[in-house]
Amino acid sequence: MNLIFASNNIYKLKEVSAILNGIVSVKSLNDAGIAEDIAETGNTLEENAFIKADYVYRKSQQDCFADDTGLFVDSLNGMPGVISARFAGEHCSPQDNIEKLLSLLEKESNRKAYFKTVICLIQNGKEKYFEGVINGTISRAARGTNGFGYDPVFIPEGFIKTFAELSSEEKNSLSHRARAVKRMRQLLASLSTKK
Ligand code: IMP
Repeated sequence: MNLIFASNNIYKLKEVSAILNGIVSVKSLNDAGIAEDIAETGNTLEENAFIKADYVYRKSQQDCFADDTGLFVDSLNGMPGVISARFAGEHCSPQDNIEKLLSLLEKESNRKAYFKTVICLIQNGKEKYFEGVINGTISRAARGTNGFGYDPVFIPEGFIKTFAELSSEEKNSLSHRARAVKRMRQLLASLSTKK
């Protein structure tokens, strides 16, 4: 089975391809010849995942999926949430986002947060959604060099290291996105055994 994943993020592509290995051959946006940046104009993770998957499906006429992720921080009433990528401004870097987050939480003792991923899969024109969540806390300072985005400040529940201090295998065994992809894998595996 071939699926286009509406992303060119190498970390995500590696993580997702490893989980779907043996069931799905995953193609990136580049592989599919889609060069545009797809604007995330939705108000929810579900809407953004749909916008990206729908764009790719219409453009390629091939089965595909897209993900959208947010970091939801308790003491910030769920911010940055759906605007996680542009928390510190429209063209900000991951470093800018981390600095803004740490400064907002400077005097805060409740550091609970969670990552949530929603995947929208479009097969034969029909959408299906899969979710994955991981609870954790926000560290006092950025630590570690692996991964991307908010990884240096997110400590998953049950660990003392941040995602950026864990190996990619460790992170990928428990991440929000891995959990959502594993749910999609279950469905795809059941479809492939029915054929
Ligand atoms: P998107 O789903 O790629 O649009 O991600 C939205 C925002 O969440 C971006 O700022 C990403 O850097 C961040 N993000 C997504 N997934 C992860 C992750 O696994 N670790 C850390 N940050 C992430």
